[in-house]
Amino acid sequence: MAKSWTPTSWRQHDAAQQPQWPDMAAVDAALKQVAGYPPLVFAGEARSLQAALAQVAAGNAFLLQAGDCAESFEEFSANNIREKLRVILQMAIVLTYSMGVPVVKVGRMAGQFAKPRSSDMEKVGSLEIPSFRGHIVNDASPTQAARIPNPERLVQAYHQSASTLNLLRAFTKGGFADLNRVHAWTQEFVGASPEGQRYEQLAREIDMAMGFMRACGVDTENNSTLHEVDVYTSHEALILGYEEALTRQDSLTGEWYDCSAHMLWIGERTRQLDGAHVEFLRGVGNPIGCKIGPSATPEWVIELCEKLNPAQIPGRLTLISRMGADKVEDALRPLLRAVRDSGHPVVWACDPMHGNTVTAPNGRKTRDFEDIVTEIAGFVRAHNAEGTWPGGIHVELTGDDVTECTGGGHSVSNEDLDERYQTICDPRLNGRQSIDLAFRVAELIRTANA
Ligand code: PEP
Ligand code: CO
Repeated sequence: MAKSWTPTSWRQHDAAQQPQWPDMAAVDAALKQVAGYPPLVFAGEARSLQAALAQVAAGNAFLLQAGDCAESFEEFSANNIREKLRVILQMAIVLTYSMGVPVVKVGRMAGQFAKPRSSDMEKVGSLEIPSFRGHIVNDASPTQAARIPNPERLVQAYHQSASTLNLLRAFTKGGFADLNRVHAWTQEFVGASPEGQRYEQLAREIDMAMGFMRACGVDTENNSTLHEVDVYTSHEALILGYEEALTRQDSLTGEWYDCSAHMLWIGERTRQLDGAHVEFLRGVGNPIGCKIGPSATPEWVIELCEKLNPAQIPGRLTLISRMGADKVEDALRPLLRAVRDSGHPVVWACDPMHGNTVTAPNGRKTRDFEDIVTEIAGFVRAHNAEGTWPGGIHVELTGDDVTECTGGGHSVSNEDLDERYQTICDPRLNGRQSIDLAFRVAELIRTANA
């Protein structure tokens, strides 16, 4: 029998990757403030997402989880949010239209601020300073002072999440996401490119289909499914004090929900079975995820499923594999087999980013577009071989014309990386690479199921 859970029971477990706050009284004061604020999302919405993910687990839908590696306090604007949403909607259209299944859209947005680090300290020239841990903790500037964790940032993260979510809700329900506007989602720099042209062709076909439906007497004007979309929010539940402060009891069911986002996930560095992150997330009612790297064994994955989803609720648990292009097929197959045979109804998603990060000659962290596609191809092959559903992708992207990942139709080279390298953490796909990826993914899955 599992031990009883409370929103604070994680405090009895080792919590990896927590900031070294210099003043705990100030942290407690900040968290008390956040705990007094309204929830950002409602339990009913988290349940709707779980129901949608249950369809993914059953092989009837596809998950697109995408957004920044780390949201920034500085790059916080309507433009920035809109451009990210635009590219997510475009990718979703490509996937839906090409695969013929619903696409569940989840942003790494409105709360994706905290970053785990492989090392506590970073070397900058001859200086050793604390690592950057995301804007919810400290600042990215390479100075000792900037890297001191500042608890006021916990409160700022809440406010930025609230504004971002507010705009997302406005855009997705207020007409921006209308299927009649599929053409308008294309950004200028994408429009003339081959990927942009391919998207335009698809958008024209959607126009024709809408016209066809109208001609057949379908009322496309008043059908809300054609004018509105659901875009859910998610982030890595890393700073557990912050997550605890936003964990509230649902008045309808009496269950606890982490109301900082619809979906929360556990990162590769904090997935210890007896650790605080697994303890915390096992007790909240939200759909949850866990990153799974190449060191995971079948026994460990089954134990994880038992801990996080003992009742085997479909849609509750998403396993996000991030193996690396060269390892994914061999590493994943035994895990798929074990989970399949255990009867656990998980969503399997592929994060093709975090196992493929390399350092370019100029010192920039980058990822090559072909490695990203290769990992997804291996992921799809592994599922095909085991008779399981390659349920989705989890990617880091931006709508903007950045030069952070190499390759793709536009062919960003190592030499181009300095041009518009804007991420505050990991390299993201730009708008063109993202759309290109959506077409490639749809082809991979279509071919596998042909
Ligand atoms: C991330 O998603 O940004 C991340 C740090 O991933 P992982 O935990 O898989 O390394
Ligand atoms: Co990342």
